[in-house]
Amino acid sequence: MTPDLSVEIAGTKFNNPILTASGTCGYGEELADVFNLSELGGIVTKTITLMPRAGHPPPRIAEASAGMLNAIGLANVGVDRFIEEKLPFLEKYDTRVVVNIAGWRMKDYVDLAARLTDCQRADMVELNFSCPNVEMGMEIATNAALAEKAVAAVKKVFPRPVIAKLSPNVTDIAEIARACEAGGADALSLINTLVGMAVDIETYYPRLTNNTGGLSGPAIKPVALAMVHKVYQAVEIPIIGIGGIADYGDVIEFFLCGAAAVQIGTSLFVEPTAPIKIMKDLKKYLSERGLRNIRELTGQVRTYQ
Ligand SMILES: Cc1cc2nc3c(=O)[nH]c(=O)nc-3n(C[C@H](O)[C@H](O)[C@H](O)COP(=O)(O)O)c2cc1C
Repeated sequence: MTPDLSVEIAGTKFNNPILTASGTCGYGEELADVFNLSELGGIVTKTITLMPRAGHPPPRIAEASAGMLNAIGLANVGVDRFIEEKLPFLEKYDTRVVVNIAGWRMKDYVDLAARLTDCQRADMVELNFSCPNVEMGMEIATNAALAEKAVAAVKKVFPRPVIAKLSPNVTDIAEIARACEAGGADALSLINTLVGMAVDIETYYPRLTNNTGGLSGPAIKPVALAMVHKVYQAVEIPIIGIGGIADYGDVIEFFLCGAAAVQIGTSLFVEPTAPIKIMKDLKKYLSERGLRNIRELTGQVRTYQ
């Protein structure tokens, strides 16, 4: 019997637990040339903002040991073009579409979510809280009270599930997770990138024009697993695990630590067909162990006393 890879997040069925991570496959167009997007459980689109953005000047990507640094600066087409051009492109695929949104004021998130309310193709929104809030002088992702307020404000206008994406750049991620749950988040996704830096030893300049960037890829997987494990014990809502996933074993680890689905980011740059291979290998892993579905693995890690 073929094992069942389908999962359910906030009452929404996903054909399988593999989603692509925001910012690593644009709006799906490039990836659609490589494989049929209907094979994915879901696609999380590049963060969109109210207005189009060019992002930071290059270089905005640098290599790091077992990963990469990026400071793209939220380059995106803006919500109007996204709704007119990018979302309709995804209509023909049998996959879930999660629209990632961000802003500099709490109202930006609300306005964006309100614009997406009538777009039925936007199955869910994912709130990228890792950008500076100009009203408060800090990232929403780093302040529990702000995060709770922002989630609650979006929930008032958006009728479908809302995912809060958590940053690892905090003292206690469980505190932020609980705040998002209290604000009404239907699910959490974690982790976003870790702040990192690389310096050119000839010029003495950082390798990114933004000086610092976000570290992603296999280097961050252990950090992400520990955070998913911690958050799983702190909240009831489902967790989507993200961070350095490169093969099926990584997916199983995230499930065991508490994930109900996963997102794949940096690995797509190394091997764009990685999600397809991972799904094939996941089925093999499950059937070899007589497991009927992947859902039963969530949170099954055994810990030492
Ligand atoms: C080039 C690049 C661009 C990214 N852009 C976004 C973005 O626009 N919004 C967002 O929420 N996360 C963004 N991320 C973070 C990823 O979605 C993901 O959380 C992170 O890279 C960790 O997963 P990974 O190790 O599998 O890449 C970006 C990551 C990379 C590498």
